[in-house]
Amino acid sequence: MHDHPVALITGANRGLGLHTSRQLLALGWSVVTGVRQADLCSQTEAALADAVQTGRFLMAVALDLTQPSSVRAAVAAVQARAGRLDAAVANAGQFLDRAFGPLDVDPDLVRQTFDINTLGTLNLA
Ligand SMILES: NC(=O)c1ccc[n+]([C@@H]2O[C@H](COP(=O)([O-])OP(=O)(O)OC[C@H]3O[C@@H](n4cnc5c(N)ncnc54)[C@H](OP(=O)(O)O)[C@@H]3O)[C@@H](O)[C@H]2O)c1
Repeated sequence: MHDHPVALITGANRGLGLHTSRQLLALGWSVVTGVRQADLCSQTEAALADAVQTGRFLMAVALDLTQPSSVRAAVAAVQARAGRLDAAVANAGQFLDRAFGPLDVDPDLVRQTFDINTLGTLNLA
């Protein structure tokens, strides 16, 4: 088992997820960044490489919250690499219906937002 605390952060390729990953690395955590688009994993690792402390690790994994199989594969990758998970930061999310009110919003947009933010986070939990 890995000797240091390990955090998994979803939506970590940009924005608050990327910054939170950097902060945790600076505090001496090992960090697994969840990245929705698999082809952005190596770019995310490169963006954070300078923040990894000695004896800790950084690993980017493909993780789409809306796909239970993707979440399971990401958690399995954490288990294989570290054998522990001390914190999960449910950061990933989208606000697709932000520009609309209840009288003009397309229900499909609400459904997509709910699928990512609510059911997706439940998949992770
Ligand atoms: N910034 C704010 O002022 C603010 C305020 C209130 C709440 N929040 C919430 O805080 C979180 C981060 O905010 P942010 O501004 O950093 O957001 P952001 O820049 O829009 O980044 C969102 C992240 O979530 C990922 N994501 C979207 N759908 C996903 C899915 N199905 N599975 C996995 N990852 C997914 C995105 O991946 P891609 O790059 O592939 O799209 C991206 O990495 C969000 O949940 C947001 O709603 C932010």
